[in-house]
Amino acid sequence: MKKFLLERLTEEVSAAFEKAGFDASLGRVTVSNRPDLCEFQCNGAMAGAKALHKNPFDIAEAVAEQLKSSAAFSDVQVVRPGFLNMKICEKYLREYLTEMQGSDSLGIDKPESPKTIMIDYGGPNVAKPLHIGHLRSAIIGESVKRIGRFLGNNVIGDVHLGDWGLQMGLIIAALKEAQPDLPYFNPDHVGDYPTEAPFTLSELEEIYPAASGRSKTDEAFKDAAMQATYELQHGNPGYTAIWRHIMNLSVTDLKKNYKNLNVTFDLWKGESDADPYIGPMVEKMKADGFAHESEGALVVDVNEETDAKEVPPCMILKSDGAALYTTTDLATLVERMKDYDPDQVIYVVDKRQELHFVQVFRAAKKTGIVPEKTGLDFLGFGTMNGKDGKPFKTREGGVMRLETLIKDVNDEMYRKMKENDSIDLSDEEARETAKIVALSAIKYGDLSNQASKDYVFDIDKFTSFEGNTGPYIMYTIVRIKSILRKYSEKYGKIDGLELNTPQNAEERALMLSLAQFGTMMTGAFDDLAPHKICAFIYGICNEFNRFYHGTKIIAEENEARRRGWIATLVLTLNVLEKCIDVLGMEAPDRM
Ligand code: ARG
Repeated sequence: MKKFLLERLTEEVSAAFEKAGFDASLGRVTVSNRPDLCEFQCNGAMAGAKALHKNPFDIAEAVAEQLKSSAAFSDVQVVRPGFLNMKICEKYLREYLTEMQGSDSLGIDKPESPKTIMIDYGGPNVAKPLHIGHLRSAIIGESVKRIGRFLGNNVIGDVHLGDWGLQMGLIIAALKEAQPDLPYFNPDHVGDYPTEAPFTLSELEEIYPAASGRSKTDEAFKDAAMQATYELQHGNPGYTAIWRHIMNLSVTDLKKNYKNLNVTFDLWKGESDADPYIGPMVEKMKADGFAHESEGALVVDVNEETDAKEVPPCMILKSDGAALYTTTDLATLVERMKDYDPDQVIYVVDKRQELHFVQVFRAAKKTGIVPEKTGLDFLGFGTMNGKDGKPFKTREGGVMRLETLIKDVNDEMYRKMKENDSIDLSDEEARETAKIVALSAIKYGDLSNQASKDYVFDIDKFTSFEGNTGPYIMYTIVRIKSILRKYSEKYGKIDGLELNTPQNAEERALMLSLAQFGTMMTGAFDDLAPHKICAFIYGICNEFNRFYHGTKIIAEENEARRRGWIATLVLTLNVLEKCIDVLGMEAPDRM
């Protein structure tokens, strides 16, 4: 589509301003925030009045006079002090929706020059089980990736594994102590190391927390772990072999877990992949005079005069020469620029890491790792809390594993579906459906909140069929599908039917919302705000349900009207399905 509805309406009103002798830029049209009074509004006369020292009412009147001949509006009212309140012309609305209906992408054209955008999300740490702390990054990042792609960009998702830190050293040190005779620890070992890991995944998942706990009280053990980390990072062959075992087991498990979340990554890179870039990067930073020594460490100053709160220098190397989290993130940017030359890199990470990213972004720009034109964006998210307002825990107070959480929600969803008696499905199908709907409950519960805010994970609320929830959205979609099925059994095909002008107030409200799709979707991506899509589909579902309850659709006798209603339903379904798809959800056919 050349332009979205609001842009077209803005053009109409801008032209009217111009014809009336005023600046065209005053003609910006927005959706009315008083839907009881009008559908669209323009407040340009007020701004114009200030600049021109004129009465806003007179300006608005003159513009309204010009709009009388516009095909876009059926009614234009001037309201004191100088608002333009407008209602759209029904034919115009129908034409716009017909264009949308005829487009596979619902009117969203591919951009002339698509951007290359990298999204850094997921960010799990290898050897530690996925826990709910990583849930938000996966859910939000996946959605941002899909929205960007739907808008026609070249989007690359990178899981950016935490695979190079102390957790590796802790495991190696623990293993060395428990099984010192393994070949990995024999400095004289020649030839290949065993292909089979000396531990299973579940053993690994026990080794890590035990070692981590112990390192907090046992200094000698912690030193050994740090030493092992250092040696791993400097190429110790036995440790590298252990590291590979850990990676293999862990990544297989992570992939399985992400698959259950309907989350996929294009790149399975990690911090370790940045390692070869660290040396040359540090040398260049020194040579260019950006990095200097401070209390033994190597740092890049990143504070700016306008900072309200001082931003501390970005540490590049510790005094013992070890690399840090900032170092791997900067070196990863070196690698990303070299391999993909992205226009934008978006990080979807816990908002408590914001300062880290401020430092990394500034250092990257300052030292020229990333050119000025490349956008670096931090999409920081809040904490998922339990009902007690504290970070979500198991009943025993431990860290909840993601698998457990998903299973709990699946079970609850299944129970609710049975209780609702909404299913005439076999038990197996019901289980499958419950799984799909449960995932929507988890994802929608997360995505419907502004990412930066904390939210309370309330399983009861999230799995409810009523209110602003995933299951409510799914239920509405299933309802539309079922009407369409019934219609086609009786009357045949549902595709390609002609839309009517709205035939009642409820249909009008629904159509008006559908017509906002393009503006909404591009806005959600510009603001990196999937919650805007949730708010949009919640509105559509409410409007659809109001329409459905007030209208006999299939029983309507007038054929043209009946067909038009089905056309509206098909468009509604397409819009909803596109939206849930970019949110990373799927709807069942029946439930
Ligand atoms: N592994 C990190 C953590 O668990 C998150 C990684 C985020 N991405 C990044 N490029 N730093 O906290």
